[in-house]
This record gives sequence, C-alpha cells and structure tokens, in this order.
Amino acid sequence: MNVLKKLTTAAATVSLVAVTLASPAIAKNFKIAVGDSGGSSQEATGLGFKSALEELSGGKHTATLFLNGQLGSEQDTVNDAAIGTLDMSLLAINNVTPFSPSVGVFTLPYVILSLEDAETLTQGPIGQELTENTINDAGVRIIAWTYTGFRRLTNSKKPVKSVADLQGLVIRVPKNEIMIDTYKSWGISPTPMAWSETFAGLQTKVVDGQDNPYTTINAMKFYEVQKYVTNIRYIFSIEPLIISESVFQDLSSADQEIILEAGKAATAASAQFLRDKEAEIKQILLDQGMQIDDPENNEQEFIDLATAAVWPKFYESIGGVEKLNAVLAAIGRDPVSE
Ligand code: MLT
Repeated sequence: MNVLKKLTTAAATVSLVAVTLASPAIAKNFKIAVGDSGGSSQEATGLGFKSALEELSGGKHTATLFLNGQLGSEQDTVNDAAIGTLDMSLLAINNVTPFSPSVGVFTLPYVILSLEDAETLTQGPIGQELTENTINDAGVRIIAWTYTGFRRLTNSKKPVKSVADLQGLVIRVPKNEIMIDTYKSWGISPTPMAWSETFAGLQTKVVDGQDNPYTTINAMKFYEVQKYVTNIRYIFSIEPLIISESVFQDLSSADQEIILEAGKAATAASAQFLRDKEAEIKQILLDQGMQIDDPENNEQEFIDLATAAVWPKFYESIGGVEKLNAVLAAIGRDPVSE
C-alpha cells in the first residue's frame, strides 16, 4: 500500500471511530440491573420498557434485564450508573435517597396512602422536580416509575399487631435514614442491610424480619423464611427505572425521545401489573402458609409515633417543610406547620 493510500485508510478509520463515538444513533442493547427476581413489579416495569423500546425504535434498540441483584446491590448500581459503567437500574426509591435526599419525601412514613397518590405525585410536577434533582445530585435520570404497593412487615417469630408486639424483634431495613428512624420511633433499633444480602440474612436468622410489598415478598420467596405478615402501610413502595445521565446525553435527541416514551409505557405497565396482580399475590402468600394480620386500631399508634418523630427530622433534607406541604396538597391532604 502506498503512503497516500495508508494515510487515507488511517483517516477513514479515525473518522469512523469518531462517528461511532459521537453518534449513538447506532443500535444499543441497554443493560438494566434489577434488584428483584422474576415475577416482581420491577420485572413488569423492565419488560414493559423493553417491549416499548423495541417497538418505538423499530427494533433498533433493545434491553436486557439482569434480575435479582446480579449486577450488585441496588445502592451500588446508582454509583455505577452515575459513572456510566451501567446503563440503567430498577431499584426502590429508598435506595436512591442516600444519593439525592429530596426524593426522601416519597419515603416519609404515611405520606403516600394509595396507588392513586403515587401516580399523581410521580407523574406530575413533583415527580418532574425530583427527576431533575436526581440528575443534578446523583448523575442519574428517572425515566419510569414502578408502583409496588405498601411495604408490609414480615418476621419469622410471632404475629405483630401493635408497637408493643414489635419489641425484641431484629428487623432489617435498607440503608436509609428515614426508615431507620421510623423503626426507632416504634421503639426498636433496626439493622441496615443491603437488599442483595437480605434473603440470606433472614434465612440464617441474623435478622428476624424485614418489610417489603406483597409482590416483592412473593417474587423473592420470602415465604420460605418468614411466617408472619403485618399489614402496615407506612411506605408505598415506588421503584424508579433510572438511566445513567451520561449514557442518556450520548444518545441522539430522537433516541432520547424514544427512551422517555418507552419509560412512560413502562410506568403504565407497572400500574397495570399492581392493579391486576396484588390480590392474587396476597392469596399466594396465604397459600404458602404465611399468616397475615392487620395492625390494631387501624394502625393509629404506628402512624402517630412515626409522623411525630420522623417528619420534622427530615424537613431540611427534603428541601423544607414546604416541599412536604406541596406533596400533601397535590394529594388533597392538609398541610403541616413547622
Ligand atoms: C429494599 O428493601 O432494599 C428494596 O425495597 C428492595 C427492592 O428493590 O424491592
């Protein structure tokens, strides 16, 4: 090859590399870390996203779900997405809060009281503001919301119907200050533990119990290691699909639009999954031998202790009492005063 031809070939190679790097219009298989296993609401969101993505991109893009924490603990996946070594993650909002404290407003006990509240908040201006906050604080963008239902308390030792019954139990919580303080308001000091270690922790009896929604208890087969369920409703679990902001910014604007549209379809798929499946899944837990109890007195003691101790403590981290009041107003509830 003569020198001119060599230079031309080299230049072509360089420009091809440059185009490839600068032009994410190429087909992409998005890698999605999923904290929960198959059959979970997270999987329903992930599959909803994948099929909408494939359809909207005319088959150009696809996604692969890595279930059951295969790609690391939920909190670790936020770091991985932030630095762009992971494309996407599906995880509980409480595992995003340590990186973007204002989303803690969705984890404050007894704020979200129904699926409809969760949809109103996440799909309206408040959800949009929190999405912008996570981009700035954590380098990840929320593109879809999973609605998983109320986090129910489970344990292997005894029925729990009152705050008094809870005493003496060792309860696992995520590494989330709001949840830790909520249990403290109920008189016990919980054990923070990564989600990926929780089944083993329950199985080996390092901890007696934990809380998560029916759909998660079922998908994770917690009925194999837990007997008693208490229908507390302190947190309605919201589990976003996040994308690395650097991965998102590398996409063409047309592809960004496709991702956002696929996210909306995934959110709708998640709400449908919960509406269709929650009652059926509760029955599966009963069939598996779990005992499900309601807390006494409509949970009033749990509610009073948690809201009095925990809400004021976190006003500052969620952006002020006015942020909580905006959330309460959006779902038709009375404001609180500082
Ligand atoms: C947790 O308890 O850490 C999470 O709720 C787990 C999940 O993503 O389902």
